[in-house]
Amino acid sequence: MELTTPLKHNSIKFLLLGSGELGKEVAIEAQRLGIEVVAVDRYPNAPAHQVAHRSYVIDMLDREQVLDVVLRERPTYILPEIEAISIEALFEAERLGYTVIPNAEAVNKTMNRKNIRRFAAEELGLPTSRYRFVTTLEGLREAAEELGFPVVVKPVMSSSGHGQSIARSPEDLERSWEQAKEARGDASELIVEEFIDFDYEITLLTARTERETLFCEPIGHIQQDGDYIFSWQPMEMGRKVEERAKEIAKTITDGLGGRGIFGVELFIKGDLVFFSEVSPRPHDTGMVTLVTQSQSEFALHVRAILGLPLGYKQLSGGASGAYKAKGDLQVPTFRIDPSIFGRESSLRIFGKPEAHGGRRMAVVLVMGEPKGALEKARELVEKIELYDPLQGGEGGESPSLEKEEGGEKAQEREVQEDPRGEGEEPPTSEESHQERPTLFQRFLKVFQ
Ligand SMILES: Nc1ncnc2c1ncn2[C@@H]1O[C@H](COP(=O)(O)OP(=O)(O)OP(=O)(O)O)[C@@H](O)[C@H]1O
Ligand SMILES: [Mg+2]
Repeated sequence: MELTTPLKHNSIKFLLLGSGELGKEVAIEAQRLGIEVVAVDRYPNAPAHQVAHRSYVIDMLDREQVLDVVLRERPTYILPEIEAISIEALFEAERLGYTVIPNAEAVNKTMNRKNIRRFAAEELGLPTSRYRFVTTLEGLREAAEELGFPVVVKPVMSSSGHGQSIARSPEDLERSWEQAKEARGDASELIVEEFIDFDYEITLLTARTERETLFCEPIGHIQQDGDYIFSWQPMEMGRKVEERAKEIAKTITDGLGGRGIFGVELFIKGDLVFFSEVSPRPHDTGMVTLVTQSQSEFALHVRAILGLPLGYKQLSGGASGAYKAKGDLQVPTFRIDPSIFGRESSLRIFGKPEAHGGRRMAVVLVMGEPKGALEKARELVEKIELYDPLQGGEGGESPSLEKEEGGEKAQEREVQEDPRGEGEEPPTSEESHQERPTLFQRFLKVFQ
């Protein structure tokens, strides 16, 4: 096989469609192999723009604008790094002979919950939560009655928890309907899912080429408001459930085909494994592999794309903790406790040019056995403060006020925002006498 030098007539070239923190790590890994990297996003100075050979700012949902960049750059590989991309442009690029990773049809299936759910459950026969698709509030009511409460309501085209909610009773349905309608994307159709009261959920990173399929150790994670906040690896599972999880991951990734890494999201309840969804690209919960594996999920993605052998060595267990901004800041400035930079802990700052409330800005990475690493990650994330020197603290507050926010107040909020929380099950008499456990404490139970 041949590798090339960037900026030559014969350079191997990656075109990243989406230049966030995951794209940035892919770009860095590609650069290490002498790949020429072109990064595209809808706003300037996105994380991967900052480490690419060239960058573009376009509306990625616009077919012509995407094709224009493709034809100008003539990339060897097109890497969709987010879901909000013109699918027509990807199909057209493929028709013109370009290689889309893993392929345009896989991107098409995974960007729409209806397509992927039908493919997984109805064509491949994989176990999923029971589901219905609806387009009216009346339809939503009927579907919920049929499936039984609680139900999870999601727009078919949305990511990161946008427009998603849990309806626990008929009275909640109108609110769920409104919430889904307000979300960005195509909210005209909704998926209504049976709520799976899983023991835990995992991401099974699965790297694939025509020759081989490689599974990473399972990654456990905690989601809040549809977004991941903590992840750890390995998630200890029984041998049989782990084998079942791998079987499901193999089936869905073979079904989608092509080369690259996939983040297969699975729910585990007892001996049962449910397929939830799959990303045909590195997964945010997999940032932990930056410190746990000799080849991170990003390095494996690049190897798979190039058709290189997929080996890696597990260096350690570990955990990651996402740092999210609490308010809007024009000049995001980190005030960091030096203890974050330890022998086994580190910080990755994504370099996003602006902070918005809830926007992920950095991640803490900790090596070690998963439970200890997770507790450490949580402790360290709380030691990060973000402020704007021109503005004061996040959302205009002073940095010292912010510190309090990270403490007790944040814990209280966590309980309220727990997507599986409040009212999900009546508190036991024991619980009603004590404080409800925080989301974090509840998830620590998966280690027992
Ligand atoms: N049917 C369900 N039963 C129980 N919990 C669910 C169900 N569907 C979703 N969840 C919870 O909500 C989280 C987010 O849901 P999902 O992965 O479908 O959407 P998303 O993460 O917003 O999509 P994307 O990964 O594309 O950003 C899941 O990780 C899980 O914790
Ligand atoms: Mg998800």
